[in-house]
Amino acid sequence: MSAEKREIDWENLGYGYIKTDYRYISYWKDGAWDEGTLTEDNQLHISEGSTALHYGQSCFEGMKAYRTKDGRINLFRPDQNAKRMQKSCERIMMPAFPEEQFLEAIQAVVKANESWVPPYGSGSTLYLRPFVIGVGDNLGIKPATEYIFSVFAVPVGLYFKGGLTPSNFIISDYDRAAPQGTGAAKVGGNYAASILPGQDARKRNFSDAIYLDPATHTKIEEVGSANFFGVTKDGTFVTPYSPSILPSITKYSLLYLAEHYLGMKAEERDVYVDNLDEFSEAGACGTAAVISPIGGIQTKDGFHAFHSETEVGPVTQKLYDLLTGIQFGDVEGPEGWIRKVEI
Ligand code: PLP
Ligand code: COI
Repeated sequence: MSAEKREIDWENLGYGYIKTDYRYISYWKDGAWDEGTLTEDNQLHISEGSTALHYGQSCFEGMKAYRTKDGRINLFRPDQNAKRMQKSCERIMMPAFPEEQFLEAIQAVVKANESWVPPYGSGSTLYLRPFVIGVGDNLGIKPATEYIFSVFAVPVGLYFKGGLTPSNFIISDYDRAAPQGTGAAKVGGNYAASILPGQDARKRNFSDAIYLDPATHTKIEEVGSANFFGVTKDGTFVTPYSPSILPSITKYSLLYLAEHYLGMKAEERDVYVDNLDEFSEAGACGTAAVISPIGGIQTKDGFHAFHSETEVGPVTQKLYDLLTGIQFGDVEGPEGWIRKVEI
């Protein structure tokens, strides 16, 4: 079946689970990952003692497959996801999944679910969710003796409603990560900590919570589901520097593109919540979020508005066009950023 034949409203997909045809699964036992296989079964049968269930020994990645104008499929910097996942595994003592096998698994899952890759121009993409979990019989707080690596795929549209229409965010009173904690690793516990603040934010009609640095609560760290960026009034692209935020692949790509493609100054540095006035534009960036403009931020001192609450700012628009242009194959990106899926 082709994407066109599926009864899916590709233009209006949100970000929710849809069971697609195949997922990849590999088991680690006795010191090695097995060769892995594709399966139609989306249920996992694991021990009730699995460390992933009790102690959060789990990590994941998020990446996307993009349909190009000529019908091919692109992956965006998948090697970076493979490497980041290895670091996440290392931080919580799980065996690293080999980069080559990770890339083969991604290729296999996209290929097997080709008809789920949304059409070019629909604004939707095929989201890929690799994860590693500690499984096997266990009780104490220590590394598991067995692990599962798996990748599934789900067609998705916008993560934040409105897309390029700005939305508002709120500074959370909660912390997402600790100074020497796991904030820089993409591990389950960070996301568990962000569920309550995220729901609180949405209940109050904000798109998501923004966290401050856990040590001083004076600097912007990141959104629960994406990194933060700002564009200063004199045109510098800025993202927060912090050892407790996720090293976002989108963020590093934007830092590079702002500097090398748009000729802007681009820097990673402290962003003080009391100095939001330095920015004319702001946004959330990430694989799911892509680039989502921030209209304003609710802080404890009041509401701070940026460029406009209804119109995307000019620099944010340029960055969006450039990033998505590269991802969908319309613009030539830096060498090695795009990997084609061999269909
Ligand atoms: N920060 C958090 C907490 C995230 O969950 C994500 C999403 O992956 C990001 C930042 C953005 O990272 P990336 O651009 O690699 O998707
Ligand atoms: C992604 O963008 O891939 C993420 O991991 C964020 C997601 C959990 C909403």
